[in-house]
Amino acid sequence: MHLDSVLEFAHALHCKTLFPGAIAIDATMGNGNDTRFLAEKVGERGCVFGFDIQQTAHRNTRRVLEKAGCREQVRLVLGGHEAMLEHIPLAYHGKVQSIMFNLGYLPGSDKTVITRPETTSIALEHAITLLAEGGLLSIVVYIGHEGGVEELNAVEAWAKSIDSNFYHVVGYRFLNKPHTAPQLILVERR
Ligand SMILES: C[S@@+](CC[C@H](N)C(=O)[O-])C[C@H]1O[C@@H](n2cnc3c(N)ncnc32)[C@H](O)[C@@H]1O
Repeated sequence: MHLDSVLEFAHALHCKTLFPGAIAIDATMGNGNDTRFLAEKVGERGCVFGFDIQQTAHRNTRRVLEKAGCREQVRLVLGGHEAMLEHIPLAYHGKVQSIMFNLGYLPGSDKTVITRPETTSIALEHAITLLAEGGLLSIVVYIGHEGGVEELNAVEAWAKSIDSNFYHVVGYRFLNKPHTAPQLILVERR
């Protein structure tokens, strides 16, 4: 593992919490790379819920999953992650091992369709209630695009407000790179 990719670091941590048969959520499917990662880790007995508001993201993710042979264990939701609670069966509330948010725009597509602080904050608030004990939520925040800094500020404000009696919250960022480098925020349910 290399420290220069916040996403790689997040994957390494999720590898420790995931197991065959686990429940996971990809809150921003995009091109399906994180969805495939989660689907491979939970295996056929597990279940991954994937969210994205764009048809293109769904198409790309479906293709990636089919190619990797792990489409069966993924439920694709064409809709915003802010409505996550409606889509995750009650039986799974408090049982989700891994939740990934990879904010920003869909690489290779329309850069004006981005995650937004208002909806991201709602989704994050709901997401932590779904975590299992020891479960991990990761948020990769890109700040190079318009609106990125505002979203980082909103995510950080939310993260700082989380009760430390119930969750560990940490930040991972480059200390020797420009402030535009991506950042990672991690929430672990105690
Ligand atoms: C940086 S990309 C995700 C990359 C992806 N995880 C991958 O592995 O390729 C961010 C995605 O968030 C999606 N998005 C924007 N607003 C959303 C929302 N409210 N709910 C769910 N997805 C959203 C965008 O359509 C975009 O595909």
